[in-house]
Amino acid sequence: MTARHPEPPTARFPAVPGLAYGGDYNPEQWPVATQIEDVELMQQAGVNLVSVGIFSWAMLEPREGEHDFGWLDAVLDRLHAGGIRVALATATASPPPWLTRHHPEILPELADGTVLGQGGRQAYAVSSPVFRDYALRMTRVMAERYGQHPAVALWHVDNELGCHVPHDYSENAAVAFRRWLEARYGTVEALDAAWGTAFWSQRYDSFDEVLPPRAAPTYANPTQQLDFARFSSDELLTHYRALRDVLREVTPHIPTTTNLMLSTGTKWMDYFSWAGDLDVVANDHYLRARDPEGHVELSFSADLTRGVAGGAPWILMEHSTSAVNWQPRNRTKAPGEMLRNSLAHVARGADAVMFFQWRQSAAGAEKYHSAMLPHAGTDTDVWRNTVALGDALRRLDPVKGSRVRADVALVFDYPAWWGAELDSHPTQDLRYADAVMAWYRQLWHRGVTVDVVPAGADLTGYRLVVVPTLYSVTDDAAERVAAAARSGASVLVTYFSGIVDEHDHVRLGGYPGAFRDLLGVRTEEFWPLDAGERLALDDGTTGGLWSEKTHLTGAEAVRTYAGGALDGLPAVTRHGVGSGAAWYVGTRLDDDAASRLTDALLTEAGVAPTVDALPAGVEVVRRHAAGPVDDAAAAFLFVLNHTAQDVTVPVTGVDLLTGGRAEGEVRVPAHGVAVVQEG
Ligand code: GLA
Repeated sequence: MTARHPEPPTARFPAVPGLAYGGDYNPEQWPVATQIEDVELMQQAGVNLVSVGIFSWAMLEPREGEHDFGWLDAVLDRLHAGGIRVALATATASPPPWLTRHHPEILPELADGTVLGQGGRQAYAVSSPVFRDYALRMTRVMAERYGQHPAVALWHVDNELGCHVPHDYSENAAVAFRRWLEARYGTVEALDAAWGTAFWSQRYDSFDEVLPPRAAPTYANPTQQLDFARFSSDELLTHYRALRDVLREVTPHIPTTTNLMLSTGTKWMDYFSWAGDLDVVANDHYLRARDPEGHVELSFSADLTRGVAGGAPWILMEHSTSAVNWQPRNRTKAPGEMLRNSLAHVARGADAVMFFQWRQSAAGAEKYHSAMLPHAGTDTDVWRNTVALGDALRRLDPVKGSRVRADVALVFDYPAWWGAELDSHPTQDLRYADAVMAWYRQLWHRGVTVDVVPAGADLTGYRLVVVPTLYSVTDDAAERVAAAARSGASVLVTYFSGIVDEHDHVRLGGYPGAFRDLLGVRTEEFWPLDAGERLALDDGTTGGLWSEKTHLTGAEAVRTYAGGALDGLPAVTRHGVGSGAAWYVGTRLDDDAASRLTDALLTEAGVAPTVDALPAGVEVVRRHAAGPVDDAAAAFLFVLNHTAQDVTVPVTGVDLLTGGRAEGEVRVPAHGVAVVQEG
């Protein structure tokens, strides 16, 4: 069983000079002459780290037990001669066709029994002992062959574990799920109690009767669904650990990671519980083209990644130079966007900027996905951007190892996400990521830096703690939130928080259960709204999606509903607690109302934005070198101008990108970036 929040990683960053720069490199798709040109062009671009071998299993072991390493030997030697380090994959991210043909029992299944076949990628069940065995063997072969190769700086286990198959419902999964449940509950009676199986004749007499939540006539047991989500995340992590252990045994000198998918779009892996198993945290992030504020979601993803990394520098393992190939319409990046995207990750703690992929494929499903070197070659803006980014990253060498500091914590929790969006709830319209982003966005636009932290994290030291829609919460995690308020923080809790315990059992006596005393309110009934319906508040602002029939039990009403069935009842409340305060918001505030409340909270908490007078649409983040908190000389201010106008931002120091000095302010051109070493 996975501990919820083990120690953050020890951050054994791969040994590259300066910030790392590069991408996935798939040389097996190209003739040798092209591979030779690749190294020359990588040198031109300043590339110093590439991920190799991710999807190479079928080329490295074309027939069972017969290996062909010649081509990879030559690739690694060539990269080494060119001064480029390698994040070498275990090559296990996609089983070769001979393996699924001989062992179709390794294939994963959907909830409706559909078996997912070979022909794409990731066609394996991590709980298949047969697959595990083959993957372990391949990993050992790779470690033994390349563990002493001087190019290898990092191990890259599998690839985006759970990307395509976060949940497998096969018989292999059923067996492993039962084992996991036995470890969690000990006895079937304990499982029955936790799952509330007195309901709907679901009582289990033995673990053998338990199944994954496969397609059923109606709602599957919610605790079964949650435990299956927990199990599935743990099972992917278990697979990572098994491969990682082989690498540690054979090559203890090389750090190990796998690329996570930390964003508002990836729900099913509880990455906070994975963190302690990675030597360095690596993330893949792709902008959603339809989202006009995709760059704000990018910032959230980066802050979340830093949270998973426990504040340590992390690797941006993949993003795109321009369009992707997997969205409904794949938008090209605008001039300046790729550099801004890259440096926004660096601003928020990345010490490596990498892409999918180095050279754009000529064949296969990803041939229309952009790359560092596009189909059209080097006389292209994409290539010029690639070279310019390499140059920029070299100039940012001094930033390496510095850290981001924040006065605001936002509590983010994967099991609460799973729980909040379960079926058979008061509304089907609630989206956890929207609830989180509503507040993150307010803070982003004010230039306030946020640490995204797991439920249960120690919150002491933060001046403002935001707890959006934390549907399920343990007693311990609820107590951490209360302790923050008692010790002087302003705490904001929003609707549908603290409702259930970790087994999805309602905390009785009135909502929001676990936070009722802290907030000094008691809700007797939820009043979800129709799609598009709006509720007026007494200051003329509005809310939507959700409302509650709430009574004050110690708090004061800051805003009340105006009109309708809840007329005069509290919508926003404040409860003085110790030297701090606990605020509750029982509806989804529209922007105006959320904006007013954010201002009030920041004022009360004494949280200042990173710079004063920040122009709209401009992102500012500061990284601090290790040392005393007030050491301004060791601070780097990142200014990212996401607007079409030139802007000025107050700061004094040297712009590392231009070498120019900023006296009192820096001018950042439309769509441009400045990184000022202050002092
Ligand atoms: C993921 C994968 C890569 C590639 C990209 C495309 O991040 O890890 O192999 O498929 O998506 O965006």
